[in-house]
Amino acid sequence: MSEKIVSFFSGAGGLSLGFALADLKPVLGVDINDDAYSTYKSNLGIPCHNLDLNASDKCSLIDLLSPYKEVFAVIGGPPCQGFSTAGSRNELDSRNQLIFNYFAIVEYLKPKWFLFENVEGLLTSNSGKSVFELVRRFISLGYLLRLEKVNFAAYGLPQSRKRAIVIGNRIGAFFHFPPETHSFNAGKHNKLLPLFPHSPTLDEAISGLPEAVSYECFLPYTHAETSSEYEHFIRQSNNSGGVKHHFSTPSANELERYSLLEPGQTMKDLTESLWHPSFRKRAFRRVKDGTATEKRGGAPAGIKRLYSHLCSPTITSASSREFIHPSLDRALTLRECARLQSFSDRYVFSGNTSSIAIQIGNAFPPLVAMRFAQHLMQIEAKVGSGLISLKEWEAQLIGYRLTDASGMSPALMHTESLLKSLMFNLG
Ligand SMILES: C[S@@+](CC[C@H](N)C(=O)[O-])C[C@H]1O[C@@H](n2cnc3c(N)ncnc32)[C@H](O)[C@@H]1O
Repeated sequence: MSEKIVSFFSGAGGLSLGFALADLKPVLGVDINDDAYSTYKSNLGIPCHNLDLNASDKCSLIDLLSPYKEVFAVIGGPPCQGFSTAGSRNELDSRNQLIFNYFAIVEYLKPKWFLFENVEGLLTSNSGKSVFELVRRFISLGYLLRLEKVNFAAYGLPQSRKRAIVIGNRIGAFFHFPPETHSFNAGKHNKLLPLFPHSPTLDEAISGLPEAVSYECFLPYTHAETSSEYEHFIRQSNNSGGVKHHFSTPSANELERYSLLEPGQTMKDLTESLWHPSFRKRAFRRVKDGTATEKRGGAPAGIKRLYSHLCSPTITSASSREFIHPSLDRALTLRECARLQSFSDRYVFSGNTSSIAIQIGNAFPPLVAMRFAQHLMQIEAKVGSGLISLKEWEAQLIGYRLTDASGMSPALMHTESLLKSLMFNLG
């Protein structure tokens, strides 16, 4: 019988879908957002509760959670906007407390395993104290855990997407993260390893889709055959014979901008008279106070034509407005963004265009979730067959990786010094 998992801050269900693809059994999702809740329920076919995990009264939360005590795994990604380097980073943002709500759920349910996901900004937020405190609490709860920043492209995603992941168990299994399987090249972010296959390119990820139209409707595939392994993965469970969410409606102004951009070029490469008003406002604001836009949290909003032969940059809720197709004069469609996030073509999202864009941009890519879930099952199998010995262990941070780069920023160095004190239970 499949092991059961429960997901909190479950969003559209990317994590749960990936765990289901690895033959685990999602039995519960919880999210505050009506549309995400509805997407989760209709695609995964299991109960999802529409609940504010910050404000729910304790008794009703306990009623909801109690059937899942000592479940196999708790998985989830509390909201990250408060930590995100792409937003205005606010350490007092109440959403930042939600990581401790996630902890409280693990504390109550005591799962064998948990997987926690957040943006890399968590690692340096609040001078590293937020992540330090989270890890410290998991240790005091009796977990062995690891914290790593990973780029999901290294697991075969056609997208550079860096996230901080914490995985823990209370069965006493010393473990590593799943080994990386792919080389990748997303331009600025790349990792080229000679013996590894390349992650799919943007072109491979979005190939085989029908021509996009200008309104939401069902569009049948025009080719029965798939042209890449990735497309096969995306299409394999889609029995509907086509896709939704594959539309784009550029205005005349947008069309003019798009037509002038070559792959790799952005709004900045257009003459100033063509800049979008919001982009111009930001650009001049930067000049006025002399602060680089990167330092205010986030690259300047603006359009960018993508390269077909590279992995895509990180998909966010803005991607279906800002990422321009490599060869067509339109932005990526929601379906193309969902494909770059490795959602099956059968997945149908609830809500209006901007709500769907948020759900897709927020999601944990199912393909990577599947690889992590398979890895946990392999560890369980090794424990079961005695290949991993569980004798004499103490809760602790077994390891961390805060960056792939050779050097560390002063902020990361500070976080590292805090985390070191938790290694081998020294803290
Ligand atoms: C980063 S997304 C999670 C994505 C999800 N792991 C997936 O794979 O698709 C964070 C989610 O937390 C939800 N959320 C935010 N505040 C919440 C709260 N107070 N209670 C419950 N859910 C909340 C958001 O609606 C959003 O769907």
